[in-house]
Amino acid sequence: MSPKIALLDSLADIEQSALIRISTTIKTKDLEALRISLLGRKEGKLSQILKQLASVEPSERKIVGAEANRVKNALIAALETAQTNLAYTEEDRPGSLDVTLPERGRWQGSEHPINLVIKEVWKIFQTMGFTRARGPEIESEWYNFEALNTPLDHPAADEQDTLYLKNSGLLRSHTSPVQIRTLEANSPPIRVLAPGMVYRRDTYDATHTPSFHQIEGLVVDEGITFVDLKATLEEFSKRFWGSGTKVRFRPSFFPFTEPSAEVDVKRIVMREGQEIETDWIEVMGAGMVDPNVLENVGYDPERYTGFAFGMGPGRMALLKYGVTDLRMFFQNDVRFLSQFSHKSVR
Ligand code: DAH
Repeated sequence: MSPKIALLDSLADIEQSALIRISTTIKTKDLEALRISLLGRKEGKLSQILKQLASVEPSERKIVGAEANRVKNALIAALETAQTNLAYTEEDRPGSLDVTLPERGRWQGSEHPINLVIKEVWKIFQTMGFTRARGPEIESEWYNFEALNTPLDHPAADEQDTLYLKNSGLLRSHTSPVQIRTLEANSPPIRVLAPGMVYRRDTYDATHTPSFHQIEGLVVDEGITFVDLKATLEEFSKRFWGSGTKVRFRPSFFPFTEPSAEVDVKRIVMREGQEIETDWIEVMGAGMVDPNVLENVGYDPERYTGFAFGMGPGRMALLKYGVTDLRMFFQNDVRFLSQFSHKSVR
């Protein structure tokens, strides 16, 4: 092989392998080392080739020289392009850190609006001497219905409403079974608040979700009367919904309370800078603990009486915050959820 052909072959090899290495180098300093190994005056691969130019026939030197120049320019151009690209992507490039830039805002979590309501409700009952209670979300028919004076042929126990589990048990359809568990595990005086999750075969729409929150309350002692129920729930309602709130007790029916009542509130709210009274809104179920319930857990209903109440913090959050769709609380859109944390609950 003539020296001319050998040198042209070497140039082609150098160009091909150099272009691959340049395009796969990801650090500026590696790129600089590569540049020196290719184009360096002494040790550079191209310089080595040019030194051998003397071995080529004088008439053919021009051809080899021109080809060496072309390869050199191609490599310089490729190195420059790679350098520019790296400058955009490389974090540790020298001199790129502007320490005067303000820091990026940190993402901060916030409390869920329903939890804010539960917390507010809890704070109020805590000052009235209540403690917290809880029970399992998987319950038996006994705790969820029968002990609560609800026969299994009651519509509430219907498969259309209650989510029964495969073998036995069900997902509790209300927090009232916590009443039974609390009565079993304690002795009077009993004053508990039990927030928790409940489950029903509900359609998913603006006012229903198949799982939702409830807050159960129970007071049992000697000498508890309907006056205690009214006073407690009226005091709570005014503290939660605002001191100007009117409270009304409407006769109702629940299997586990007798007599039973529904609690309505009429609130004062601001609308376009004006204080206005809302319509009556139902916010709670309540009643005197049915003697059958007390008997079911071995209490003497002649000696002990009590009252119970249940409310839905999800619905309360809708009203408090003026949200129109309950599903918003369950979609976990941080842009929605983060609006509530610093707003006072009102
Ligand atoms: N458990 C009832 C429900 O899910 C709510 C309720 C009503 C609870 C009256 C009570 C009560 O403790 O006294 O609809």
